[in-house]
Amino acid sequence: MIRSVVTGTGSALPTRRVSNAELAETVDTTDEWIVERTGIRFRHIAGEGETTASLATDAGRRAIAAAGLDATDIDLIVLATATPDQTFPASATIVQAKLGILDCVAFDVGAVCSGFLYAVQVADAMLRAGAHSKALVIGAETFSRILDWEDRTTCVLFGDGAGAVVMEAREELGENGAERGVLAVKLHADGRYNELLYVDGGPSTTGTVGKLRMKGREVFRHAVNNLSSVMTESLTLAGLDAAQIDWVVPHQANARILDATARKLGLDPGKVVVTVDQHANTSAASVPLALDTAVRDGRIRPGHLVVLEAMGGGFTWGAAVVRF
Ligand code: UT7
Repeated sequence: MIRSVVTGTGSALPTRRVSNAELAETVDTTDEWIVERTGIRFRHIAGEGETTASLATDAGRRAIAAAGLDATDIDLIVLATATPDQTFPASATIVQAKLGILDCVAFDVGAVCSGFLYAVQVADAMLRAGAHSKALVIGAETFSRILDWEDRTTCVLFGDGAGAVVMEAREELGENGAERGVLAVKLHADGRYNELLYVDGGPSTTGTVGKLRMKGREVFRHAVNNLSSVMTESLTLAGLDAAQIDWVVPHQANARILDATARKLGLDPGKVVVTVDQHANTSAASVPLALDTAVRDGRIRPGHLVVLEAMGGGFTWGAAVVRF
């Protein structure tokens, strides 16, 4: 059977790294409150010239190099973002041009914090349909540009960054004889919850970009339930169970959500990749950024069974089971 095998990962962060203490110089907050409520210690903030597409390009280039490919080998780019460089064209086409790829299919996917999971599902279906062979799947965001810096309940929570994977259509077994690649993806959306997490602007309504608004406590409650149930659903689809997981790479919104979700599934917290302390919530970038971190530091190795999961605005949520 043809599977989409992850053959390379990459990530990129803006140069400027901002600590909670630095933030507290201009926002009515404290390092203590942020660490205790969220686990966040640092976030990266994009400076002049650093955009969603530039970060996506850097992450993509690193993923392509890790896969041992040339950029021109890529025939599909799917970029998950809620903060594109322009309303149109898709930032994926900017990435394509920056990578020097003369022809491929390139488009953006919008599912906010779950965007990378949606992008993986779309790319996986296109690869397995046989229309493409090498996909660059990216999550990239510059949420600092849509934050209300007067709203301490949201502005301390988010950061900028990008993560990417190369997915190749392959028919092969891994070292341990088990099938490699994307084994199952389960996605959900429930548009009734728009008002709990949204941006108060848009080209077709206000004609402005708008700012992020969130009722954090309500989102938190939904997150733990939705994430634990969708992880179980994705494992069931793959014919596996939680005891077989080597690593969980979750959306990095809040350390308390990561702990509570792991506890609900009876997972060893030591199997959960945590980067929220270093990157804060980078929306669609958060899962591939954390994934690249754990691949590059040697935690995730060939043969490992990894579950990716995310939940965010919409609401949207999802999980993917991937054998490396
Ligand atoms: O990526 C999409 C998914 N997003 C999420 O998963 C976010 C989910 N939600 C959360 O992570 C948490 O709900 C928050 C971190 C946003 C908030 O934590 P909380 O424990 O739910 O706090 P709270 O909203 O109930 O606020 C508690 C108190 C309030 O003061 P009072 O009313 O109790 O006097 C807030 O005004 O903390 C206050 N507060 C702050 N204090 C210092 C809120 N923000 C801050 C702040 N610094 N930055």
